[in-house]
Amino acid sequence: MPHLLDIRQLDDSAIEQLLARSAELSSGAACHRRSGTIANLFCEPSTRTRVSFEMAARRLGLEVVNIDQAASSVSKGESLTDMARTLAAMGIGAIVLRHPDDFAAERLAATLPANGPAIINAGDGIHAHPSQALLDAATLAESGVDFAQMKVAIVGDLRHSRVARSDIELFSRLGVAEIRIAGPASLLPEPHPWPQVTRMNNLDAAIDGVDIIICLRIQRERIDAQAYPDGEAFHRDWGLTEQRAARLPEHVRILHPGPVNRGIEIADQVADSPRSLILEQVRIGVHLRTALFEWLMPA
Ligand code: CP
Repeated sequence: MPHLLDIRQLDDSAIEQLLARSAELSSGAACHRRSGTIANLFCEPSTRTRVSFEMAARRLGLEVVNIDQAASSVSKGESLTDMARTLAAMGIGAIVLRHPDDFAAERLAATLPANGPAIINAGDGIHAHPSQALLDAATLAESGVDFAQMKVAIVGDLRHSRVARSDIELFSRLGVAEIRIAGPASLLPEPHPWPQVTRMNNLDAAIDGVDIIICLRIQRERIDAQAYPDGEAFHRDWGLTEQRAARLPEHVRILHPGPVNRGIEIADQVADSPRSLILEQVRIGVHLRTALFEWLMPA
Protein backbone atom coordinates (compact mmCIF):
# COMPACT_ATOMS: atom_id res chain seq x y z
CA MET A 1 0.00 0.00 0.00
CA PRO A 2 1.41 3.49 -0.78
CA HIS A 3 1.80 6.00 2.04
CA LEU A 4 1.53 9.79 2.31
CA LEU A 5 4.52 10.80 4.39
CA ASP A 6 5.60 14.16 2.98
CA ILE A 7 5.38 16.26 -0.19
CA ARG A 8 8.83 15.14 -1.40
CA GLN A 9 7.62 11.58 -2.05
CA LEU A 10 4.89 12.79 -4.45
CA ASP A 11 5.80 13.03 -8.12
CA ASP A 12 4.44 15.88 -10.23
CA SER A 13 1.67 13.77 -11.73
CA ALA A 14 0.42 12.68 -8.29
CA ILE A 15 0.29 16.32 -7.14
CA GLU A 16 -1.55 17.33 -10.32
CA GLN A 17 -3.96 14.41 -9.99
CA LEU A 18 -4.76 15.13 -6.32
CA LEU A 19 -5.39 18.85 -6.92
CA ALA A 20 -7.51 18.16 -10.01
CA ARG A 21 -9.57 15.49 -8.22
CA SER A 22 -10.08 17.74 -5.21
CA ALA A 23 -11.41 20.47 -7.55
CA GLU A 24 -13.79 17.97 -9.19
CA LEU A 25 -15.12 16.81 -5.82
CA SER A 26 -15.46 20.41 -4.69
CA SER A 27 -17.65 21.11 -7.73
CA GLY A 28 -19.96 18.24 -6.86
CA ALA A 29 -18.47 15.18 -8.63
CA ALA A 30 -19.48 11.82 -7.15
CA CYS A 31 -16.93 10.01 -4.95
CA HIS A 32 -15.35 6.77 -6.09
CA ARG A 33 -16.57 4.36 -3.40
CA ARG A 34 -14.10 2.35 -1.38
CA SER A 35 -14.55 -0.44 1.15
CA GLY A 36 -12.70 -1.19 4.36
CA THR A 37 -11.81 0.56 7.59
CA ILE A 38 -9.36 3.33 8.39
CA ALA A 39 -8.07 4.38 11.81
CA ASN A 40 -7.46 7.91 13.05
CA LEU A 41 -4.60 7.77 15.56
CA PHE A 42 -4.03 11.27 16.91
CA CYS A 43 -1.32 11.62 19.54
CA GLU A 44 -1.73 15.44 19.52
CA PRO A 45 -4.92 17.50 19.57
CA SER A 46 -6.69 18.26 16.28
CA THR A 47 -10.05 19.51 15.07
CA ARG A 48 -9.76 20.21 11.31
CA THR A 49 -7.47 17.37 10.27
CA ARG A 50 -9.08 14.60 12.32
CA VAL A 51 -12.67 15.52 11.50
CA SER A 52 -12.01 16.11 7.81
CA PHE A 53 -10.19 12.79 7.37
CA GLU A 54 -13.14 11.12 9.10
CA MET A 55 -15.70 12.90 6.90
CA ALA A 56 -13.70 12.12 3.77
CA ALA A 57 -13.48 8.43 4.66
CA ARG A 58 -17.22 8.20 5.40
CA ARG A 59 -18.09 9.90 2.10
CA LEU A 60 -16.26 7.07 0.33
CA GLY A 61 -18.11 4.39 2.28
CA LEU A 62 -15.13 3.57 4.52
CA GLU A 63 -15.63 2.75 8.17
CA VAL A 64 -13.65 4.83 10.66
CA VAL A 65 -12.28 4.06 14.09
CA ASN A 66 -10.99 6.94 16.18
CA ILE A 67 -8.30 5.92 18.62
CA ASP A 68 -7.77 8.00 21.71
CA GLN A 69 -4.08 7.66 22.44
CA ALA A 70 -4.58 8.16 26.18
CA ALA A 71 -7.10 5.30 26.27
CA SER A 72 -5.09 3.03 23.97
CA SER A 73 -2.33 0.56 24.81
CA VAL A 74 0.27 3.06 23.55
CA SER A 75 -0.22 4.66 26.98
CA LYS A 76 0.85 1.29 28.48
CA GLY A 77 4.10 1.28 26.50
CA GLU A 78 3.01 -0.44 23.29
CA SER A 79 5.11 0.77 20.35
CA LEU A 80 3.47 2.48 17.38
CA THR A 81 4.65 -0.41 15.21
CA ASP A 82 2.96 -3.01 17.42
CA MET A 83 -0.15 -0.85 17.51
CA ALA A 84 -0.15 -0.58 13.68
CA ARG A 85 0.42 -4.33 13.26
CA THR A 86 -2.41 -5.02 15.70
CA LEU A 87 -4.76 -2.72 13.76
CA ALA A 88 -3.66 -4.32 10.46
CA ALA A 89 -4.46 -7.78 11.85
CA MET A 90 -8.02 -6.54 12.41
CA GLY A 91 -8.19 -5.44 8.77
CA ILE A 92 -7.48 -1.72 9.09
CA GLY A 93 -6.43 -0.49 5.63
CA ALA A 94 -4.98 2.92 6.52
CA ILE A 95 -3.77 4.73 9.62
CA VAL A 96 -4.00 8.53 9.76
CA LEU A 97 -1.28 9.47 12.23
CA ARG A 98 -0.67 12.74 14.03
CA HIS A 99 2.36 12.64 16.29
CA PRO A 100 4.55 15.12 18.20
CA ASP A 101 7.81 13.55 16.93
CA ASP A 102 9.46 14.56 13.65
CA PHE A 103 9.43 11.70 11.11
CA ALA A 104 7.11 9.52 13.27
CA ALA A 105 5.00 8.60 10.22
CA GLU A 106 8.06 7.76 8.12
CA ARG A 107 9.56 5.61 10.89
CA LEU A 108 6.28 3.76 11.35
CA ALA A 109 5.84 3.14 7.61
CA ALA A 110 9.39 1.75 7.40
CA THR A 111 8.58 -0.94 9.96
CA LEU A 112 5.47 -2.25 8.19
CA PRO A 113 5.34 -4.95 5.51
CA ALA A 114 4.61 -3.94 1.90
CA ASN A 115 1.04 -5.27 2.21
CA GLY A 116 0.51 -3.45 5.54
CA PRO A 117 -1.77 -0.45 6.09
CA ALA A 118 -1.20 2.88 4.32
CA ILE A 119 0.27 5.48 6.67
CA ILE A 120 -1.00 9.01 6.20
CA ASN A 121 1.02 11.70 7.92
CA ALA A 122 -1.49 14.06 9.53
CA GLY A 123 1.30 16.23 11.00
CA ASP A 124 4.49 15.00 12.70
CA GLY A 125 6.42 17.35 14.99
CA ILE A 126 7.80 20.27 13.01
CA HIS A 127 8.59 18.04 10.03
CA ALA A 128 5.62 17.84 7.67
CA HIS A 129 1.86 18.25 7.21
CA PRO A 130 1.45 17.19 3.59
CA SER A 131 -2.36 17.08 3.41
CA GLN A 132 -2.49 20.66 4.79
CA ALA A 133 -0.09 21.86 2.08
CA LEU A 134 -2.14 20.08 -0.59
CA LEU A 135 -5.37 21.64 0.67
CA ASP A 136 -3.70 25.05 0.80
CA ALA A 137 -2.67 24.66 -2.85
CA ALA A 138 -6.16 23.37 -3.75
CA THR A 139 -7.72 26.39 -2.04
CA LEU A 140 -5.42 28.79 -3.90
CA ALA A 141 -6.10 27.05 -7.22
CA GLU A 142 -9.86 27.28 -6.65
CA SER A 143 -9.56 30.96 -5.77
CA GLY A 144 -8.15 31.53 -9.27
CA VAL A 145 -4.48 32.00 -8.40
CA ASP A 146 -1.92 31.40 -11.17
CA PHE A 147 0.98 29.75 -9.33
CA ALA A 148 3.53 30.97 -11.89
CA GLN A 149 2.58 34.59 -11.05
CA MET A 150 1.86 34.16 -7.34
CA LYS A 151 3.91 35.96 -4.70
CA VAL A 152 3.32 34.60 -1.20
CA ALA A 153 4.48 35.67 2.26
CA ILE A 154 4.39 33.09 5.07
CA VAL A 155 4.54 34.93 8.38
CA GLY A 156 4.81 34.12 12.07
CA ASP A 157 6.30 31.07 13.75
CA LEU A 158 8.14 29.39 10.88
CA ARG A 159 10.62 27.67 13.18
CA HIS A 160 8.07 25.27 14.66
CA SER A 161 5.71 25.02 11.69
CA ARG A 162 5.31 21.74 9.82
CA VAL A 163 2.70 23.50 7.66
CA ALA A 164 5.26 26.09 6.50
CA ARG A 165 7.78 23.35 5.63
CA SER A 166 5.24 21.41 3.56
CA ASP A 167 3.81 24.58 1.96
CA ILE A 168 7.27 25.76 0.90
CA GLU A 169 8.08 22.35 -0.52
CA LEU A 170 4.83 22.17 -2.47
CA PHE A 171 4.76 25.80 -3.63
CA SER A 172 8.33 25.42 -4.93
CA ARG A 173 7.27 22.32 -6.87
CA LEU A 174 4.29 24.20 -8.29
CA GLY A 175 6.60 26.93 -9.62
CA VAL A 176 5.33 29.77 -7.42
CA ALA A 177 6.95 33.06 -8.53
CA GLU A 178 8.16 34.24 -5.12
CA ILE A 179 8.08 32.90 -1.58
CA ARG A 180 8.97 35.15 1.36
CA ILE A 181 9.06 34.34 5.04
CA ALA A 182 8.97 36.79 7.94
CA GLY A 183 8.85 36.57 11.69
CA PRO A 184 10.86 37.41 14.78
CA ALA A 185 14.38 35.95 14.68
CA SER A 186 13.51 33.61 17.57
CA LEU A 187 10.71 32.06 15.48
CA LEU A 188 12.55 31.64 12.18
CA PRO A 189 14.50 28.46 11.39
CA GLU A 190 18.24 28.79 11.85
CA PRO A 191 20.21 28.42 9.61
CA HIS A 192 17.88 29.54 6.80
CA PRO A 193 16.97 26.21 5.18
CA TRP A 194 15.43 27.29 1.84
CA PRO A 195 17.70 28.94 -0.77
CA GLN A 196 14.66 29.69 -2.96
CA VAL A 197 12.89 31.62 -0.15
CA THR A 198 13.55 35.25 0.80
CA ARG A 199 13.82 35.82 4.55
CA MET A 200 12.65 39.25 5.70
CA ASN A 201 12.91 40.85 9.11
CA ASN A 202 10.04 43.29 8.78
CA LEU A 203 6.41 42.32 8.28
CA ASP A 204 5.36 45.43 6.37
CA ALA A 205 8.16 44.89 3.84
CA ALA A 206 7.38 41.15 3.65
CA ILE A 207 3.72 41.66 2.71
CA ASP A 208 4.35 44.57 0.34
CA GLY A 209 3.56 43.43 -3.21
CA VAL A 210 2.44 39.88 -2.41
CA ASP A 211 -0.80 38.27 -3.55
CA ILE A 212 -1.16 35.78 -0.72
CA ILE A 213 -0.35 35.99 2.99
CA ILE A 214 -0.28 32.84 5.10
CA CYS A 215 -0.40 33.58 8.83
CA LEU A 216 0.90 30.99 11.26
CA ARG A 217 0.04 30.37 14.90
CA ILE A 218 2.81 30.50 17.47
CA GLN A 219 3.26 26.81 18.35
CA ARG A 220 3.02 27.26 22.10
CA GLU A 221 3.26 23.50 22.69
CA ARG A 222 6.75 23.42 21.12
CA ILE A 223 8.18 26.49 22.92
CA ASP A 224 9.46 26.90 26.49
CA ALA A 225 7.00 29.00 28.48
CA GLN A 226 9.76 31.60 29.18
CA ALA A 227 10.54 31.96 25.46
CA TYR A 228 6.88 32.44 24.44
CA PRO A 229 6.60 35.96 23.03
CA ASP A 230 4.31 38.58 24.55
CA GLY A 231 1.03 38.35 22.59
CA GLU A 232 0.35 42.08 22.41
CA ALA A 233 3.88 42.93 21.24
CA PHE A 234 3.76 40.07 18.72
CA HIS A 235 0.46 41.37 17.32
CA ARG A 236 1.86 44.89 16.99
CA ASP A 237 5.09 43.81 15.27
CA TRP A 238 4.17 40.59 13.46
CA GLY A 239 0.38 40.35 13.44
CA LEU A 240 -1.91 40.96 10.49
CA THR A 241 -3.66 43.91 12.10
CA GLU A 242 -6.66 45.77 10.70
CA GLN A 243 -4.35 48.67 9.81
CA ARG A 244 -1.99 46.43 7.85
CA ALA A 245 -4.87 44.67 6.11
CA ALA A 246 -6.41 48.04 5.16
CA ARG A 247 -3.24 48.92 3.23
CA LEU A 248 -3.32 45.73 1.12
CA PRO A 249 -4.54 45.81 -2.48
CA GLU A 250 -8.05 44.44 -3.02
CA HIS A 251 -6.97 41.13 -4.61
CA VAL A 252 -4.75 39.97 -1.71
CA ARG A 253 -6.05 36.85 0.02
CA ILE A 254 -5.21 35.55 3.48
CA LEU A 255 -4.82 31.94 4.57
CA HIS A 256 -4.26 30.38 7.97
CA PRO A 257 -4.08 26.62 8.60
CA GLY A 258 -5.74 27.03 11.98
CA PRO A 259 -6.26 26.88 14.81
CA VAL A 260 -6.29 30.69 14.85
CA ASN A 261 -5.16 32.66 17.89
CA ARG A 262 -7.18 35.78 17.27
CA GLY A 263 -5.56 39.04 18.31
CA ILE A 264 -2.06 37.53 18.12
CA GLU A 265 -1.07 36.50 14.58
CA ILE A 266 -4.23 37.93 13.03
CA ALA A 267 -6.89 40.44 14.08
CA ASP A 268 -10.46 39.27 14.50
CA GLN A 269 -11.77 41.53 11.76
CA VAL A 270 -9.11 40.37 9.30
CA ALA A 271 -9.73 36.68 9.99
CA ASP A 272 -13.44 37.25 9.31
CA SER A 273 -13.03 39.61 6.34
CA PRO A 274 -13.95 38.77 2.73
CA ARG A 275 -10.22 38.42 1.92
CA SER A 276 -9.88 35.56 4.38
CA LEU A 277 -9.89 32.05 2.87
CA ILE A 278 -9.63 30.36 6.27
CA LEU A 279 -13.00 28.60 6.19
CA GLU A 280 -12.59 27.86 2.48
CA GLN A 281 -9.40 25.97 3.43
CA VAL A 282 -11.45 23.94 5.89
CA ARG A 283 -14.18 23.22 3.31
CA ILE A 284 -11.71 22.21 0.61
CA GLY A 285 -9.76 20.11 3.12
CA VAL A 286 -12.56 17.54 3.15
CA HIS A 287 -12.46 17.24 -0.67
CA LEU A 288 -8.69 17.06 -0.80
CA ARG A 289 -8.65 14.31 1.83
CA THR A 290 -11.38 12.44 -0.05
CA ALA A 291 -9.15 12.61 -3.16
CA LEU A 292 -6.26 11.33 -1.03
CA PHE A 293 -8.16 8.25 0.16
CA GLU A 294 -9.28 7.52 -3.42
CA TRP A 295 -5.63 7.74 -4.49
CA LEU A 296 -4.22 5.66 -1.62
CA MET A 297 -6.83 2.96 -1.20
CA PRO A 298 -7.48 0.37 -3.91
CA ALA A 299 -10.96 0.25 -5.48
N1 CP B 1 -4.47 22.79 10.46
C1 CP B 1 -4.52 21.81 11.38
O1 CP B 1 -3.73 20.84 11.34
O2 CP B 1 -5.50 21.97 12.31
P1 CP B 1 -5.87 20.91 13.46
O3 CP B 1 -4.70 20.90 14.43
O4 CP B 1 -7.14 21.42 14.08
O5 CP B 1 -6.02 19.58 12.80
